[in-house]
Amino acid sequence: MLGPVILAASRSDRTRRFLTATPMTRPVVGRFVAGETVGATLPVVKDMADRGLDVSLDVLGEGVTDPADAVRARDAYLRLVDALGPLGLGDRAEMSVKLSAFGQALPGGHDLALRHATEVVEAAEGIGTTVTLDMEDHTTADSTLAVHSELRSRFPRTGAVLQSYLFRTEDDCRELARAGSRVRLVKGAYKEPASVAHQDKAEVDRAYVRCLKILMAGDCYPMVATHDPRIVAIAQDLVRRTGRGRDGYEFQMLYGIRSAEHARLAAQGHRMRVYLAFGTDWYGYFMRRLAERPANLGFFLRSLATR
Ligand code: FDA
Repeated sequence: MLGPVILAASRSDRTRRFLTATPMTRPVVGRFVAGETVGATLPVVKDMADRGLDVSLDVLGEGVTDPADAVRARDAYLRLVDALGPLGLGDRAEMSVKLSAFGQALPGGHDLALRHATEVVEAAEGIGTTVTLDMEDHTTADSTLAVHSELRSRFPRTGAVLQSYLFRTEDDCRELARAGSRVRLVKGAYKEPASVAHQDKAEVDRAYVRCLKILMAGDCYPMVATHDPRIVAIAQDLVRRTGRGRDGYEFQMLYGIRSAEHARLAAQGHRMRVYLAFGTDWYGYFMRRLAERPANLGFFLRSLATR
């Protein structure tokens, strides 16, 4: 119940101003955000690589309303590629991109976001890695999947994200599984209306398993992005039953959430990728993490009260 309330409150300018202005928020944000700069984040990437963990790097930022900010977002990713190149990690360090940071919501935004994304994906290919397009709220899904399809015609390894809470997603899974894509399956983190998305958590979980079965049975590369132990066990079973080798799928989890599980799955021989968000524009990302687990809100409020 509290999750949707937090997501609704996160749209208030007053909440944003309060939380981003108070320095007391920072230590709590630091649980989910790897650093403010590339320089601060690279040691985290190296440490994870040394421990057998792959990463997907997200330069925080979304919902851009000024074309100049979209250019800045693209440039931040291009600088990230320059910094990752010398590490020689190849696709062990990929990137995640939100098209709304590249201007998707602006007039002509679809083409603008495609242009910026193309430059970033091309640069990523140049250092042997790739990009996954994050999925945002349902109003952007058609445009994001169309950009994904256009990018794949030149860069077939470009990944897509599908959200099991959306009614449309089983069809999207069938489509992308047939096309042999890299597909990250998530439950979905936005506040969506009952006309397009399951509202009941148990329904979202059941839909996730249905979608996972479609992806695992298909020709795609499934990226199982969840912290849910029950679904992780089901995925392991499907991997065994479909005969997928280590290079035929991967698990993904977010930085700061169930870290012991990251290590456990990697030690068992699964490819495990941690989503590392970094930068200063952390508000939207942080609020979604609070909403996913309302207990985080209690932890956050207590930490404010004790400072
Ligand atoms: P669920 O919410 O049922 O959580 C299972 C367990 O995990 C909880 O009981 C708790 O122990 C732990 N947990 C989950 N969230 C937590 C939190 N915030 N803090 C502490 N513990 C937590 N969404 C989206 O809409 N678009 C996207 O592009 C992406 N991208 C993405 C990438 C990756 C790598 C991951 C792992 C997730 C996303 N998501 C996303 C977020 C996703 O949609 C979803 O909101 C979260 O993963 C939480 O759902 P779970 O599947 O973990 O299950």
